[in-house]
Amino acid sequence: MSKVLFEITEDNLDTGLRGYPVGYCTTSNVDPIKGLFYRNYPVADIAYWEPERAIHLLYTGNDGSKGEIEDFSNLLQRHAICAPRVIDHIRKLPNEGHPMQLFCAALFTCGMIEGQNDYRADCLALIAKIPEIAAAVINYHAGWGESKPSKPELGYIENFVHMLNVPNASPEELIEVFKLFNVLHLDHGGGNLSTFVGKAVASGLQDMYGSIAAAMSALAGPRHGRANQDCLEFVEEIQGELQNDVSPETVEALIRDRLANNQLVFGFGHAVLRVEDPRATVLYALAEKKYPDNPLVKLTQILRTIGPKVLAENPKISNPYPNVDAISGTVLSAAGFPYPEYFTILFGLARTVGIAVQIVHERCIAREGKGLPIVRPKYLYKSSPTT
Ligand code: MLT
Repeated sequence: MSKVLFEITEDNLDTGLRGYPVGYCTTSNVDPIKGLFYRNYPVADIAYWEPERAIHLLYTGNDGSKGEIEDFSNLLQRHAICAPRVIDHIRKLPNEGHPMQLFCAALFTCGMIEGQNDYRADCLALIAKIPEIAAAVINYHAGWGESKPSKPELGYIENFVHMLNVPNASPEELIEVFKLFNVLHLDHGGGNLSTFVGKAVASGLQDMYGSIAAAMSALAGPRHGRANQDCLEFVEEIQGELQNDVSPETVEALIRDRLANNQLVFGFGHAVLRVEDPRATVLYALAEKKYPDNPLVKLTQILRTIGPKVLAENPKISNPYPNVDAISGTVLSAAGFPYPEYFTILFGLARTVGIAVQIVHERCIAREGKGLPIVRPKYLYKSSPTT
């Protein structure tokens, strides 16, 4: 007899599959209280690892020796450069929409030219190439000119920053903060929307590039990955309203006012977590250490205390604590990247890793290598007006 994991009642229907166990995730786990683990490592413990080491951990399941990580970095470097045609085609796509739309189209474009219809090979190649794709999309969308020629030997994020033509920024500063952002966003369990969508699309045997394009389309939604953009815009809006009058009292009054007017307060709560997101805790500490005088950093520190205090008064809110988006955009902005429209691309650059590795598991390893069946949940019929 197999164990009952979850009793489904009518109250569980139409709740976004919240909390339903649907399978196994081998790369990472999100515990409501302890937060995110990559394999068995709490994310806070490895936040300052080099991205190549953290990617190697997710990709292979082990923290490699120095030599193993070097070999893995070399492997990524050998696959890193996109066929020039990929970048030429990206630069011919329309660029007036949101950059995430361009990113999705760029992934399909790359798949048409570089795809091998082999989940394992495409997983490695895509992880290696995604910095060049992301840099091409941002440079083209922002009107920052053509990317500089890729130099994979610089390192994964070092090369991304080298290719990206961010105006007036210190490359060292960007590298430091982008590395941390990258490691913190590589994976988040199996059930976050983009990962679930990517794996569901792959379950119909769509290839890796198409599945990741679908996943990135899911990530682009403001309730998911684009929340980091909305959060910084929210913090900037509050700063604009309060000007030189930022204090715990004025921020609290403004938050109460917004809630009373049914306006959203961004950066708090999470579907799974019931504590402050440990990724946010790491970023708050960095912000406090590196940018203590930045006005947006000061404001996010006040919001960190005032937000939970006010939101916890509403008994319907099960998690009033800050999530990663509450602070990630402020740190990016303080480091010299004040471009909220591109924050979700940075998220996608990182998350492609976790999703691609999970897809390989579901397609090539699970069920003794047979792979999981096509995703096909059941809906109950109910008559209702449709419009
Ligand atoms: C994520 O990193 O994917 C977000 O925190 C959303 C989630 O886990 O559902």
